[in-house]
Amino acid sequence: MCVTEMKERRNIGIGVLKGGGGGERVEKLKSSRTKLWMIRATTMVLLWTCVVQMTALGETWGPRVLKGWPACFSHPDSSASAVEEKVPAVPSRILPPKRVYKNNGYLMVSCNGGLNQMRAAICDMVTIARYLNVTLIVPELDKTSFWADPSEFQDIFDVDHFITSLRDEVRILKELPPRLKQRVEMGRLYSMPPISWSDISYYHNQILPLIKKYKVVHLNRTDARLANNGQPSEIQKLRCRVNFSGLRFTSQIEDLGRRVIKLLRGNGPFIVLHLRYEMDMLAFSGCTQGCNNEEVDELTRMRYAYPWWKEKIINSDLKRKDGLCPLTPEETALTLRALDIDPNYQIYIAAGEIYGGDRRMASLAKAYPKLVRKETLLEPSDLRFFQNHSSQMAALDYLVSLESDIFIPTYDGNMAKVVEGHRRFLGFKQTILLDRKFLVYLIDQYTSGSQSWNEFSSAVKERHANRKGQPMKRLVIPDRPKEEDYFYANPEECLQQSEDLLSST
Ligand SMILES: *[C@@H]1O[C@H](CO)[C@@H](O)[C@H](O)[C@H]1NC(C)=O
Ligand SMILES: *[C@@H]1O[C@H](CO)[C@@H](O)[C@H](O)[C@H]1NC(C)=O
Ligand SMILES: *[C@@H]1O[C@H](CO)[C@@H](O)[C@H](O)[C@H]1NC(C)=O
Ligand SMILES: *[C@@H]1O[C@H](CO)[C@@H](O)[C@H](O)[C@H]1NC(C)=O
Repeated sequence: MCVTEMKERRNIGIGVLKGGGGGERVEKLKSSRTKLWMIRATTMVLLWTCVVQMTALGETWGPRVLKGWPACFSHPDSSASAVEEKVPAVPSRILPPKRVYKNNGYLMVSCNGGLNQMRAAICDMVTIARYLNVTLIVPELDKTSFWADPSEFQDIFDVDHFITSLRDEVRILKELPPRLKQRVEMGRLYSMPPISWSDISYYHNQILPLIKKYKVVHLNRTDARLANNGQPSEIQKLRCRVNFSGLRFTSQIEDLGRRVIKLLRGNGPFIVLHLRYEMDMLAFSGCTQGCNNEEVDELTRMRYAYPWWKEKIINSDLKRKDGLCPLTPEETALTLRALDIDPNYQIYIAAGEIYGGDRRMASLAKAYPKLVRKETLLEPSDLRFFQNHSSQMAALDYLVSLESDIFIPTYDGNMAKVVEGHRRFLGFKQTILLDRKFLVYLIDQYTSGSQSWNEFSSAVKERHANRKGQPMKRLVIPDRPKEEDYFYANPEECLQQSEDLLSST
């Protein structure tokens, strides 16, 4: 599911788009900047996840976050440990010794897709470069995707940390050495997309000879290029290590994240609701439950305008009944109440602009008066520099999501998956995985009057008793990689150890 979705999303950055024809509604979208970056925020979150994890790894996030760190790159005893040992967090610490190897050439990569997808790709590419004994050039991020965030790698991630913390595995440079750079600038560059879901042996047998021949090879697509399963365990572990310790957000993002968390904590427990009820989501999914006619028209126009959203004719009702639509804010309010979630809890909305605005948020706000979001907690001046950078906004939400007492996504997108995985990683912190198909059925029963509140509420509670983010095996389906569980959504090889760690302490 997750993988399929990621796949679909790959063309556009934010993830949602496929491919098709149409397209002049773009201006409209562009005009609504705010919406745009909100949405991007979501995308970013994905990427952020990676970053965040890195962040979390660092001493900055304090003992709570560090507690659950996997044994492969951290030790639970001292807070800055993970980073200190192998991967110094600040230059003043001892850096790991550089790995000395005979360089086989240079690998350049241009990541495609949204933040999370790119993050996973970065982890894959570092790993590939390491096992080919080549030098990796700091990856280029996708700036042409749907949300067109102009952020560079170093705007989102701590690039120096990335380079130095991984130097005991692979050499990473900010740019090519001058002579090669000149050659590339003259257009002499071997560029290619690697085959999706390949084993590391493909890179040894097919890509390495090309690197040796051309000196520099540029991989121009990076999503899902390394298989989920069947790779040597040191490969899997390195993928995790990049994720958890090599990548971390810039200090600017981290600082703001810490401030938001502190503000929330000061007011008691909080839930993060990843309310994926944003315009892009509704347009591409065709889910229009609760929208008025004008909104339905607007969403439909938007879908037709984007060539990469291939599916044009959508029956919203059927799709919703199949559990394929994000829950609406109204459905979400009913669900939270049915789950007996305390109305005094703060609910932090981790999302972009909610489609339909206050009108659609009314029932949620009534049931949960302490609704907050980053824009209400912070001053506009705090967010000023982030605003045109959806990834940076998303990173912020990611950080807050990680820290919440309960995390509830209303749709299983990339952000939802990564945060869920990360929380599992941190000691199986509670994430409520809503069964949307079941919920919409029950909600319809309840709202039509054929079920009482108590019946409804008990059924909802019963159904979700075991959907709270417990450990699971990654689903492996040989020959159908798109349908199996995505490696990064459940990096078991690394989680296993944190499980052992947890159970042994
Ligand atoms: C990479 O370098 C190591 C020694 O550092 C060597 O054992 C290994 O065979 C090399 N691999 C390739 C693909 O060059
Ligand atoms: C990647 O490189 C190949 C070969 O040069 C080219 O045909 C293809 O269009 C490129 N793809 C992208 C996304 O740039
Ligand atoms: C963000 O973009 C808008 C529209 O392009 C622009 O007016 C605004 O000044 C930008 N804000 C910042 C902080 O760069
Ligand atoms: C990083 O680890 C987290 C926590 O397990 C997971 O959710 C995420 O998908 C991983 N991403 C990558 C790129 O490894």
